[in-house]
Amino acid sequence: MSATEPIPGTSDLWEPEVGDWLCLENTAREIFHRYGYGELRTPVMERTDVFVHNLGETTDVVQKEMYTFEDRGGRSLTLRPEGTAGAIRAIAHHGLEQGEERRIFYIGPMFRGERPAAGRRRQFHQIGVEAVGNSSPWMDAECIAMLMQFLDAAGAGGGKLLLNSRGLPEDRPVVAKALSDYFRPYASSLCEDCQRRLTTNISRVLDCKNPACQEIIAGAPNITDLFCAESKQYFSQVCAALDKLGIAYMVAPRLVRGLDYYVHTVFEVTHSALGGQDAVAGGGRYLITPAGANKPLAGIGFASGMERLLLIRNARGLVAAQDGEADLFITALGEEAVSGGLALAQRLRAGLAGLRVRADFSNRSLKAQMRTANKLGAKRVLILGENELSRGVVVCRDMRDSSQEEVSLEAIVGFLKEKEA
Ligand code: HAM
Repeated sequence: MSATEPIPGTSDLWEPEVGDWLCLENTAREIFHRYGYGELRTPVMERTDVFVHNLGETTDVVQKEMYTFEDRGGRSLTLRPEGTAGAIRAIAHHGLEQGEERRIFYIGPMFRGERPAAGRRRQFHQIGVEAVGNSSPWMDAECIAMLMQFLDAAGAGGGKLLLNSRGLPEDRPVVAKALSDYFRPYASSLCEDCQRRLTTNISRVLDCKNPACQEIIAGAPNITDLFCAESKQYFSQVCAALDKLGIAYMVAPRLVRGLDYYVHTVFEVTHSALGGQDAVAGGGRYLITPAGANKPLAGIGFASGMERLLLIRNARGLVAAQDGEADLFITALGEEAVSGGLALAQRLRAGLAGLRVRADFSNRSLKAQMRTANKLGAKRVLILGENELSRGVVVCRDMRDSSQEEVSLEAIVGFLKEKEA
């Protein structure tokens, strides 16, 4: 690894790729706006407890993947591995009246110490939403519908929606007992992680990807069959709502998802354009008790990995329109013209909204400066030499048809305004 390379699992992002990221972000803002979601930006670091307490002490994320460190004051802090816990902390801090609902979305970097692979990064970026202060199967269906609309609009549609339920907290002991009875005889054949899960978080055995575990998991009881009547009814209402909206889904009885805060509905969207890491988005309904509160907040949300969205878009040959780096380029020949070029550029930037102006300060040959103008994709070049400067004019060249005309410096803003209109 060279000294200038970013650390493994992280990347520098440059133009023109940044254009694709902006395209995703703008699509998200536009779609979420239609459903009444507003943007929330929380800090990238939180007190470690925010995650340990909310994601669950025995989850893989908390046990193996968090970037946790002690700050100079001896406080344990963690770079956020996901957005939900911080969003709930912020909403609780802001205050939520009884019966009030809050809908937020977030876009930003998350950090997990996983082994880097295609579509698996240590710093990755999520576009996520949370709707808090509600508890209705219709809300779950609306949230999933919004995700599917977003994926389509982002050029990442066509994925498979997998749906399941985790039931209510009251269902957990019944489920744990049934799974324990089933898995115990196979304990020595399960992978090391699953052996640990048998005692710490037995439901998580169900979505282990290890082939040897998969064979055993295939015969495990369906957890949804073990749920109480209320959980079963909630799940069937979510399914009915999705049917009514015409949203195709597959019930995936083994889908439990890796975070402990989920109750009732859980879902994931997988996409065939992705490799081993095939989940482009995941989410579900949750109950989270913020620190210091005595009652949990009920919510539903999802997050989608931007790197994975871009992998799908790239596989389809979708790239954001690129329009070069400058619309107008000023070449300057001679010392006087260089400073005149700088002043002219400032006048144009002030007078012509939306036009990207670059001035050349190198005082190289006209040919070399024109080459730069071409490279930046400039549509027009203003040529300023000592001669033009002394006469108070500038030569305006249209790079598309090579036509050119002399325009007075005084009239140039109005002239360009007319041309650009
Ligand atoms: P998650 O399933 O852990 O859920 O992550 C959501 C999405 O983030 C994944 O489907 C994937 O696209 C992306 N992702 C996760 N880890 C990585 C990684 N190492 N590299 C690249 N992309 C990754 C959550 O984070 C929940 N907070 C979602 C949620 C919101 N549930 C309720 N509200």
